[in-house]
Amino acid sequence: MTATLLFLLFLALGLFLALRPLFGPKEPFPEPPRREDLLKELEVLKEEAKALEGEERRLALARMVELERALEGYRPPAPRPFRPLPLFLALGAVLLLGVGLWRYTLPRLPGETVTTQRLEAQKLRALAERAKGTGAVEDLLAWGREAYALGVYEQAAEAYLKVLEKDPRNVEAIRRVGILLFMAGRPEEAKAFLEIAQHADPKAAEGWLFLGNLYFQEGDRERAIAAWEKYLEVGGEARERVQGLIQMAKAQEAGGTDGRTVYLARCAACHGPEAEGGVGPRLKGNPILRAPEAVREIVLRGRGTMPAVPLSEEELKALLDYLKTL
Ligand code: HEC
Repeated sequence: MTATLLFLLFLALGLFLALRPLFGPKEPFPEPPRREDLLKELEVLKEEAKALEGEERRLALARMVELERALEGYRPPAPRPFRPLPLFLALGAVLLLGVGLWRYTLPRLPGETVTTQRLEAQKLRALAERAKGTGAVEDLLAWGREAYALGVYEQAAEAYLKVLEKDPRNVEAIRRVGILLFMAGRPEEAKAFLEIAQHADPKAAEGWLFLGNLYFQEGDRERAIAAWEKYLEVGGEARERVQGLIQMAKAQEAGGTDGRTVYLARCAACHGPEAEGGVGPRLKGNPILRAPEAVREIVLRGRGTMPAVPLSEEELKALLDYLKTL
């Protein structure tokens, strides 16, 4: 009896200590998203998801799952901690989305069923076990590729980092780790990896796409355009999108600090050219835009995996005005 009580006591204490970091300081957002806003966003997303493919579709689906869950047991969101996450925690968050995706696949969407999702999950698990068992580079690569394709980025990072331990010159692993670092909001390290990878294997389209996004985010339009042009040259699949990016960057070279220009130069790589969301959440219709002070704070200080974006007061003003029109 005493033993049981003691055990329960320790369990409670352990839980308390483990969960404590989750109850960080309150965020400065005056109002939680309202139910109508969530519903509206969900409707829009459902429409858009039909037209999307690949990576973008996965991100849209992940957001839909999130929204469906938020709507299910609707209550104002609990405050989240306000400090930067280390890489693996950040990737962990992405992993959760990924897992959410298989488990709660929305059967309403054409072409996707719970069954295929389960099969994918099983296949991934089998590949992971095999790779961990043999530790062979090919097995690790097979695991990394599958995890990456399914958007299970934490596992992809684990697999590719293990490849690099065994074979530090493996270009695919260098490139993918670079991309994962970029998605985790660590552009400096991402750049080092991606530049090495693209130098070693200039035929890999995806590397050029992310390298271009990275340069663009840094405000280096010329190199961004050059990288995106390489992407088209080596036959990257997202032709239209990347041509759009190039056009936009070229238009910017002609210049001016209007809000849209600032947005396209500093935010669009993560939040999408039309603010529809990407690595970062959707901003269009996002209730947070009604709290410009909160947005200002997020932009200047960064938040979670989003890095701080230093802007002049003039640029910031123009940006906030532009965001209001979304
Ligand atoms: C490197 C990618 C990246 C860039 C560049 C970026 N963001 Fe973000 N942004 C994110 C991510 C990721 C989040 C989610 C952060 C979190 O809550 O963990 C986010 C969150 C936000 C949020 C909060 C959204 C919400 O619903 O909670 C706002 C507002 C925002 N970003 C605005 C901007 C603006 C404006 C810019 C340009 C000045 C910008 N971001 C540039 C990745 C980025």
